[in-house]
Amino acid sequence: MTSDAPAPGRSLREHAMWLPDDRFAALRGRTVSVLGEGTVVDTVRAEAARAGMTAAASTPDILILPAGDAAAQGLGDLPTADLSAEGFVHHVREGRVVVAYGGPNGALYGWFHHVRHLALGGGDGTTRHEPLHELRMLDHWDNVAVHPHMGQVERGYADGSIFYQEGMLRDDLARVERYARLLASIGINRVTINNVNVGRREARLLTDDLGSVERLAAIFRPWGIRTHLSVNFASPLTLGDLDTSDPLEPTVQRWWTDAAARVYARIPDFGGFLVKADSEGQPGPYAYGRDHADGANMLARALAAHGGLVHWRAFVYNHRQDWRDRTTDRARAAYDTFAPLDGRFDDNVVLQVKFGPLDFQVREPVSPVIPAMTRTRVALELQVTQEYTGQQQHAVYLGPQWSEILAFRPTGDDGPMLAEIVAGGIAAVSNVGADAFWTGHPLAQANLYAYGRLAWDPVLEPGTILDEWIALTFGHDETARRGIRSILDDSWRTYESYTAPLGVCFMVSPLNRHYGPDVDGYEYSAWGTYHFADRDGIGVDRSVATGTGYAGQYAEPWASRYESLDTVPDELILFFHHVPYTHRLHSGRTVIQHIYDTHFAGVERVREMVAAWDALEGRLPDDVHARGRERFAEQLRSATEWRDQINTYFWRKSGIADETGRTIF
Ligand code: GCU
Repeated sequence: MTSDAPAPGRSLREHAMWLPDDRFAALRGRTVSVLGEGTVVDTVRAEAARAGMTAAASTPDILILPAGDAAAQGLGDLPTADLSAEGFVHHVREGRVVVAYGGPNGALYGWFHHVRHLALGGGDGTTRHEPLHELRMLDHWDNVAVHPHMGQVERGYADGSIFYQEGMLRDDLARVERYARLLASIGINRVTINNVNVGRREARLLTDDLGSVERLAAIFRPWGIRTHLSVNFASPLTLGDLDTSDPLEPTVQRWWTDAAARVYARIPDFGGFLVKADSEGQPGPYAYGRDHADGANMLARALAAHGGLVHWRAFVYNHRQDWRDRTTDRARAAYDTFAPLDGRFDDNVVLQVKFGPLDFQVREPVSPVIPAMTRTRVALELQVTQEYTGQQQHAVYLGPQWSEILAFRPTGDDGPMLAEIVAGGIAAVSNVGADAFWTGHPLAQANLYAYGRLAWDPVLEPGTILDEWIALTFGHDETARRGIRSILDDSWRTYESYTAPLGVCFMVSPLNRHYGPDVDGYEYSAWGTYHFADRDGIGVDRSVATGTGYAGQYAEPWASRYESLDTVPDELILFFHHVPYTHRLHSGRTVIQHIYDTHFAGVERVREMVAAWDALEGRLPDDVHARGRERFAEQLRSATEWRDQINTYFWRKSGIADETGRTIF
């Protein structure tokens, strides 16, 4: 289960995640021929050698070849027509394997597909594989210098950064290479190497510390991954000697053009810039009376000649709101800001939009910005790091949430799925760190795995993905598989059931970095995340008729569905409406009884999860089990705290007792 030497000062050895050496055992001693050229194809050769295969020119057990060469090798029947650069055909017949690839990344993905195929005990057959989107990205919120409040990794729950330590790039980057291999095995092809909040130290990655970016890019490159950098919009002012960063100012444009040219001179396959502008205190074009299209296009033009992209984030809202002001609705902000700009963004701008209108909550409606921007390349942004979903203390498998989001049809049942609309692909915030298990909770590895698999194929079933992950990580043990599935399958809904109810969001502790309950933690704050509970009812009226009008940002049928209490889905009712505690849900229960019932049931479910984990002792590696045990104890403690605070709060507010008389304090 473990690999590599222990890092100095750490008692645990680094966990291999879903690529333990054992999973390659079936390849040992077999023969392979890898045809084609280039760094990434060489990586496949090195992988085969690492697995203990020997190179053979004729009749190898595994033949990996460019699709264009298939016919000449007598493999003209394989379905390789128009295979895209990252696609491959996997063919197995009587123990002989062929991977015909569209381009180098396809060779690598075909190789790892075969490893997966072996782990799942797959038999003969021919399958064709291509990603739905070209851009499958992971964003790291890693700081180079330790931030006084946010630490080394903003919203990181797995120890320090695998890239940086004490204000510098680490000397030893061997672990980054192992990470790149893991990412390649799930089809990730873009990585942003620093936090979207770009501090003074981090901004210098673009200038005098470009060498660090170059070193990381050199590690990611052989794994088919292009490196991106988060940049600070005010850099010409703060790093250069200009007195402005006005995007329409020619000196500023030249500053960025020169900066980009310097990057590409050293990193020819550099991916581009990620930008958080005019958001939560980050600088942006507003300071000069310019808008987001002016800002994004200016950077896009600096990168265009080199084939680079600007990922411009749509996470823009007023974070200095007055809670007394009921007309401002944070949920509306991204649409109000960006929808009028549709059509104005250059082709190499990707507008990166969080999946919901607020902030990676356990339940939010899908952002209306994504379908509204029909003339803009939009990317969906997810959060693998569990900021609001238990911080890798709670076992929460997010595959089902992402799958629901990706399958959402913004224009109704006959229209496309969200996954088909996001032409700019998918990005997500990484959950890894320097922790021995990479992700703190060993089960949180499943989220990283699932993210990659869904970014590749958004219609994969989350349970199938889990089975893959379990088989790869832990090998074949039906009891272990069933145990882990029983823990993770419903864990997202379980977490939802004992935290903020019915889509109302937040209720997390601001003082404890968003961990644990604090019902009124954000109620009177400037961040614009309210629930408006009083003695009679709860929820935010976002209807067009009587509320903030947010529901009207959706196309039909959703605008009407969300507008009306008759049709709004139960799980989102408090996101869209303020209702009395006695309001009856479609489920037949009142809102208050739903709150009590789900919170009691949620804690019971966690107890079952703990028992299921305990039962796996001896079936999982000891270190994995021990770490999990610690985490499950904390999950049970925390879920109980959530239950009791939420139930008590609403009992005291409403004065309505639980129908079944359970203990509420
Ligand atoms: C959340 C998170 C911040 C982060 C921000 C973002 O608000 O708490 O730490 O910077 O999202 O996505 O930019």
